[in-house]
Amino acid sequence: MQSVIFKDLPEKYICGIKIKENNIFYSLIIKTVNAMKQKPLLLWLLALLLWNCGGAEKRAESPETDDSVLLKQEEIHGTEVKKVDLSTPLNQAMVKTGQEIYDMKCSACHRLNSERLVGPGWEGVTSKRTPEWIINMITNVDMMLETDPEAQKMLEECLVRMPNQNVEPDQARGILEFMRNNDGVK
Ligand code: HEC
Repeated sequence: MQSVIFKDLPEKYICGIKIKENNIFYSLIIKTVNAMKQKPLLLWLLALLLWNCGGAEKRAESPETDDSVLLKQEEIHGTEVKKVDLSTPLNQAMVKTGQEIYDMKCSACHRLNSERLVGPGWEGVTSKRTPEWIINMITNVDMMLETDPEAQKMLEECLVRMPNQNVEPDQARGILEFMRNNDGVK
């Protein structure tokens, strides 16, 4: 989504974050920083708020900024998963692995009920999506957001691009099992 015109514009760094000069948040941030020198507390809060909004916008339109500046970690792109074998009954060891990864890497944005936090709640996700879709959303999120209409629709609703969480294939399989458990599969 990042156009050539965007790329060629000069960039500035504010608090270690790369900002393009044509970003509408750029001038706001500059103003805030200047004003902060006079009224520290109130304006720090404002700055924080603006930073959050700016971050959301940047994530939505420029994955490159996200990867290189915010995450500062190497991306592991899995290959597209075409087929997932489900286990009946549920594999409890996998459920446990999934729970651990969820607590560590997903719970900041996803609830286990139907409530949306940053991303959608997970209740019912295993009946709404195929296992393959879910696994790819976990291990190939960039691919999904670039090519899958359902994923793109969610991105439009949530306005935040789900970051690549560098989840290993067996951990992703564990998360799927944990989601099935959450949806009452036995
Ligand atoms: C920074 C917030 C954030 C984190 C952390 C996060 N996600 Fe997401 N997730 C989202 C957003 C936002 C969406 C909706 C798609 C979009 O906007 O990119 C989403 C969508 C999803 C979906 C599709 C849900 C549906 O209803 O179809 C799945 C599955 C998912 N995430 C799994 C995970 C897993 C597994 C983890 C942890 C390893 C995780 N996410 C971590 C923000 C996050």
